[in-house]
Amino acid sequence: MTAPRTPPAHRLSVAPMMDWTDRHCRYFHRQMSARALLYTEMVTAQALVHGDPRRLLGHDPAERPIALQLGGSDPGLLARAVRIAAPFGFDEINLNVGCPSDRVQSGCFGAALMRTPGLVADCLAAMRDAAPPDVAVTLKCRIGVDDQNPEAVLPDLLARAAAVGLRRVVVHARKAWLQGLSPKQNREIPPLDHDLVHRTKRAFPGLEIVLNGGIAGLDAALAHLGAGLDGVMIGRAAYQTPAAILIPADRRIFGAAGPDPTPFDVAAAMRPYIARHLAGGGRLHAVTRHMLGLFAGLPGARAWRQVLSARGHEPGAGLEVLDDALAAVARAAPAVMSGPEISRGSRGPAGAATGAEPPPAGG
Ligand SMILES: Cc1cc2nc3c(=O)[nH]c(=O)nc-3n(C[C@H](O)[C@H](O)[C@H](O)COP(=O)(O)O)c2cc1C
Repeated sequence: MTAPRTPPAHRLSVAPMMDWTDRHCRYFHRQMSARALLYTEMVTAQALVHGDPRRLLGHDPAERPIALQLGGSDPGLLARAVRIAAPFGFDEINLNVGCPSDRVQSGCFGAALMRTPGLVADCLAAMRDAAPPDVAVTLKCRIGVDDQNPEAVLPDLLARAAAVGLRRVVVHARKAWLQGLSPKQNREIPPLDHDLVHRTKRAFPGLEIVLNGGIAGLDAALAHLGAGLDGVMIGRAAYQTPAAILIPADRRIFGAAGPDPTPFDVAAAMRPYIARHLAGGGRLHAVTRHMLGLFAGLPGARAWRQVLSARGHEPGAGLEVLDDALAAVARAAPAVMSGPEISRGSRGPAGAATGAEPPPAGG
């Protein structure tokens, strides 16, 4: 009898998000899911080659499996960045061909690269050659930019990328409009086309295709996986409603045995990490700002957010702020103090909330 295969981490990933998915955020997310693949914020190849790699790439080994996202359009520079990153122990290195910000466009990379698929293939080939063999080199792209026709552009890009050895791509299933929209609007206004990504998977059965964009909960994620995609990537919903997405993920997406941890367990698991961070001179808010959504949708959520946001950034703030925030949750919702029932999903309003779909992702 062969052992059942463990589903790969890319079956569910948390998207790269600048200013959000830093090392503290990833450590926090890891306390909820041991299996999901976690992406870094984008780091530009330029910054890595000329800057301080330890500051830009340092992370806790407990964050693995972890993917580094690089930005750039110079194959030689990207290869150098990959060699610098190799000893840091990333499981994947990803090229950003989806970010539409002006800053990124002026360096001519990110979504603007959708116009130069040959260059994207050259970048991927250089990264592949530079990466250790056990590190996946992947691509994150849009379905097109501006007036491009996604039905033609996406298959052309993927065919070229596959020809140089790309095995996996994450597709943010909307165009980027490079003029006139802010990056935030570019995550909301161009319409989503999930169906194009499903059709693309059927056209490229040998390529692993991960869908991103507007996936608000695990029911939707499971529907996409059941329809044949290799993975789903969730961004804003995972950040804003982390307990709803990540606490049940190992059980529902990866088939792990329960029981799920509760949000209280997660807060408790963060304590030693926060203590180490504070002892090293770090500020409480640097960690707790990512934890504001931990009780989202549950009784006491507002009290939790209020205590952490009002006091977390005060100079000298320590673990007592976390404890006070937990006490405020307990006061606002004595029922949820029965902890383990929260995530088992069957009893009480709290259980229903962690098993439910969160509202559609916002900003
Ligand atoms: C605050 C923020 C920062 C982001 N930064 C990046 C980034 O550095 N690299 C990238 O490829 N995408 C970035 N994105 C886009 C997300 O990775 C993702 O593609 C997008 O939010 C759509 O997924 P969602 O609907 O699940 O949020 C960012 C999104 C947000 C909200």
